[in-house]
Amino acid sequence: MIKKCLFPAAGYGTRFLPATKSMPKEMMPVVNKPLIEYGVEEAIAAGMNGMCIVTGRGKHSLIDHFDKNYELEDQIKGTNKEELLDDIRGIIESAHFTYIRQSEMKGLGHAILTGRELVGDEPFAVVLADDLCVNDGKGVLEQMVALYKQFRCSIVAVEEVPAGETHKYGVIAGDQIRDDLYRVTNMVEKPAPGTEPSNLAIIGRYILTPDIFEYIENTQPGKGGEIQITDALLKQAQEGCVIAYKFKGKRFDCGSVEGYIDAINYCYENVYLQDSKAELNKKKTEKQKRLLAVT
Ligand code: UTP
Repeated sequence: MIKKCLFPAAGYGTRFLPATKSMPKEMMPVVNKPLIEYGVEEAIAAGMNGMCIVTGRGKHSLIDHFDKNYELEDQIKGTNKEELLDDIRGIIESAHFTYIRQSEMKGLGHAILTGRELVGDEPFAVVLADDLCVNDGKGVLEQMVALYKQFRCSIVAVEEVPAGETHKYGVIAGDQIRDDLYRVTNMVEKPAPGTEPSNLAIIGRYILTPDIFEYIENTQPGKGGEIQITDALLKQAQEGCVIAYKFKGKRFDCGSVEGYIDAINYCYENVYLQDSKAELNKKKTEKQKRLLAVT
């Protein structure tokens, strides 16, 4: 039902300078995959096939990543390195990618509005690739799509953060309608310490209904002089409905050095090594089957 996922990826990633001086933050590797690939995999797992990416200057490598590289494929053809491209090949085959440039960095709200041309008039998901989410079960977007089917309104993923951290996020207040669900009544972008309406911080996963574009168009620059999605969502919540969802799973803030290092350590142990073991077992079983067939 929700087929498109928007990736605002035009930001400068200043917290990671100098690494991000000429390399997009979204292309920083977590073990052996760039951040954005994890986000795209999460969107595909949630049933989406249209990946709409908002880019900016210096983001060419991001576009190249989701395209074939014939020269490289020719080089490694027939070697055991070929299988290292299996995942990205699968992604390129099962999703299509469209791009638009945000020419001025006027904030996340503005980046989402820039993506309107690609998204059109339908509900869509938003992934901020620097928030890396991992789960044993269903991915965060898949959990949110199931909720969208029930509520048919915009949904934001939230997480409880320590009191001293709320000033880094958009923070909500709401009426609790289930253990893990709130109907949003207030939202503040980066509240000054001590003024936060709760400890429920919005993380980089959203499902938005297309009327959000009009709300953004009518939103004046807010915190930091940027057009904030939080301000547009508050208006939408006041005039309609926005749900905040305490998602199941783990999130790493890969926009910060500490969160990025935590993500690498976690993914190496729990994703990369597990996948390698599963792959090795698959190969062993195939070899055993071949041997049995011969004997
Ligand atoms: P952030 O503020 O976390 O990313 O924006 P940033 O600006 O790239 O990083 P720092 O703070 O300078 O280190 C959240 C998301 O919104 C996108 C960013 O690319 C990031 O994915 N964004 C932000 C845009 O696409 N355009 C903007 O004008 C602002």
